[in-house]
Amino acid sequence: MAKIVGIMTTSHVPALGKAIAKNLQSDPYWKPFFDGFPPIHEWLEKVKPDVVVSCYNDHGLNFFLDKLPTFAIGTAPEYVSEDEGWGIPPQPSFPGAEDLSWHLRDNLVRDEFDVVSCQEMLVDHSFTLPMALLWPHQKWPVKSIPVAINTTLFPMPSPRRCFKLGEAIGRAIASYPEDLKVLVIGSGGLSHQLEGQRAGHINKPFDERFMDSMLNDPQWATQFSDVDLVEQVGNEGVELVNWLAARATVPGRVKLVHASYHIPISNTAAATMLMEPI
Ligand code: DHB
Ligand code: FE
Repeated sequence: MAKIVGIMTTSHVPALGKAIAKNLQSDPYWKPFFDGFPPIHEWLEKVKPDVVVSCYNDHGLNFFLDKLPTFAIGTAPEYVSEDEGWGIPPQPSFPGAEDLSWHLRDNLVRDEFDVVSCQEMLVDHSFTLPMALLWPHQKWPVKSIPVAINTTLFPMPSPRRCFKLGEAIGRAIASYPEDLKVLVIGSGGLSHQLEGQRAGHINKPFDERFMDSMLNDPQWATQFSDVDLVEQVGNEGVELVNWLAARATVPGRVKLVHASYHIPISNTAAATMLMEPI
């Protein structure tokens, strides 16, 4: 049976892509963030997942305001990255875990999540950067499945709905007959706001409470509406619903393998967690 072996959540500030391309990981500005990754690389060496299911948000590369699904899943043989204008070099294409992605799609629809299935899908920095952070030197030793969550156009799916989506993804993975080790990614956050009068808004107490809830009270953030979340963590901080969906794929307790939190990278409170099911 397919089994979730870990949940990795991380911020996806585009400037990280430039820092990787220029090998600036040890530069004083970048070091506190990149220092979060060697323990995760060691874990990957040991555990060697076969497939990544990435809960992420497209920022306008594949979906734009004219056609923007609340939830979408990739069912493609490969996923292609393109120049988004942030100066991140496009990545080699990502092989899709096609058969598992159709299984997830079918099970999600039967579980009342009417996801859009995408047999072609461009993937932006929200998908590509967590992959580049996890595998800086091997492109790519896993197959992947992108799950896109709308965090751009109001109304956004509530944190509770995203949690339930994650639970349904977890059930679907658990019912897949092939023995596969699955790593679930949650991309984005934590608090940040890129524009308007509150540009630069960061809410460290909320972020800390949220990171603690991942381990000790996973449904904590489901009490908030989409608008509540914007108020707390900023217009783009709402991306933390991707963390919530990823965490919800494991119904039971998880233990922390590694966590880091650093303010700021660009406009963002940059955070990373790796958790393992107990
Ligand atoms: C930044 C953060 C994001 O999540 C994003 O998608 C784009 C930019 C930033 O802080 O620069
Ligand atoms: Fe973002």
